[in-house]
Amino acid sequence: MKELAIYGGPKTLQDGEVKNWPPVDKSDEALVLDALYAANQTRGKHSLAFEKEFAEWNGNKFAVFTNSGTAALHMGIAGCGIGAGDHVLVTSYSWSSSATCILHHDAIPIFVDIDFDTFLIDPKKIEAAITPRTKAIVVVHLHGLCADMDAIMDIAKRHNLYVIEDACQAHGAMYKGKKAGTMGHCAAFSLNQNKCLSCGEGGIFVTNDENIYNNACKLWSFGETARPEQSRDFHAYALGWMYRNNELTAAFARGQLAKYDKYFEMLRANGNYLYENLNGIKGMLQPYEPEGCVHNWYNYNLRVDFDALGISTDVEARVRFRDAVCRAIAAEGVNACVWQRFILPEMTVFRAKNAYGNGYPWSIPGADEGVNYIPEEFPNALRYSKCHISIVKTLRAPNGLDIAEKVADAVTKVFDNINSIDPEKILK
Ligand SMILES: Cc1ncc(COP(=O)(O)O)c(C=O)c1O
Repeated sequence: MKELAIYGGPKTLQDGEVKNWPPVDKSDEALVLDALYAANQTRGKHSLAFEKEFAEWNGNKFAVFTNSGTAALHMGIAGCGIGAGDHVLVTSYSWSSSATCILHHDAIPIFVDIDFDTFLIDPKKIEAAITPRTKAIVVVHLHGLCADMDAIMDIAKRHNLYVIEDACQAHGAMYKGKKAGTMGHCAAFSLNQNKCLSCGEGGIFVTNDENIYNNACKLWSFGETARPEQSRDFHAYALGWMYRNNELTAAFARGQLAKYDKYFEMLRANGNYLYENLNGIKGMLQPYEPEGCVHNWYNYNLRVDFDALGISTDVEARVRFRDAVCRAIAAEGVNACVWQRFILPEMTVFRAKNAYGNGYPWSIPGADEGVNYIPEEFPNALRYSKCHISIVKTLRAPNGLDIAEKVADAVTKVFDNINSIDPEKILK
């Protein structure tokens, strides 16, 4: 058995073998240079073309290019007419923006536990979290796997709730033949550099509903009803932010979108290789792709099965063991990390109930009734946060199956040597 790289043995993947994400080529360069030398670098042909091209590619009527996914999420909340003190349901395990976007519009996040196997909001737990103030659900397609939208849309319909898809990680992911971002009332995508479609920093808001689109556009650009390319009266009709992006970034996004389907196929092939070849490893649970879903494998998530390995039941000891395993995989040359250590109800911004000072927005009369952020009420999210290991970016284009094979070798090597994993040595 080869010695682990973390203890000085040979690395499975050598430095420089995994290529950077995203790959850029002459077509990206030509587009960005065109934007650079244009008279208008704020909002012009590239921004408008990117919105059109993305809407066509994803299957939405309206698309708005933003400066982040977080901005696009906030536009979804505002677009659906969520108001101060309203309750919005959201998964208990995600990136902070999935829930802070609710606070950005003075509404109150209400968390729902996840399903341990999919790491997504558990539809069976949604109805118990609905209150008389509930107006919407933010559904996160985390790590590029779509939530169970049939069940969620059915609940939303019965309770008259809006559904905002957080598709920030889910470009191209599918649920029963439908693309992420086409199933709820509106959706947000992120285009930051970690994402499967990247332009450095950016986002895109999509919807098929003209009213939601108009409301969201007001928030996007100074509360105005006209978009910058239209005839503006520079009047703030509503409370607006400045969430627009620019031409250089739009040009880069266009270059990347034109190649997205090819990148997607490569990532799918690499993720599928791990899905088919990492089964049956003692002490490791594979991710789960439910029937009818097409995972985009944004992150490939393993879970350490502490019980199978007979690791102490002490939570701290388990977390240290997971962290040591993660470091050992990373030392083999795989970009492995712990993605989110904290579940959302553990985060101070929620627990302190003081987003804007003076206890606001929880201080809105009646808004705080029955709202408690007690992490133990989300046992699956807690369990998941303490056992997962994410493989990020390594499987993306231009890296092909040769790299996927080595990632599988690296993970197998670490689990073959699992008895040698010593957190005292590795985490010192
Ligand atoms: C699930 C999720 N939601 C929202 C965001 C926010 O996107 P951005 O960083 O573009 O604001 C991200 C990414 O960081 C994310 O992963």
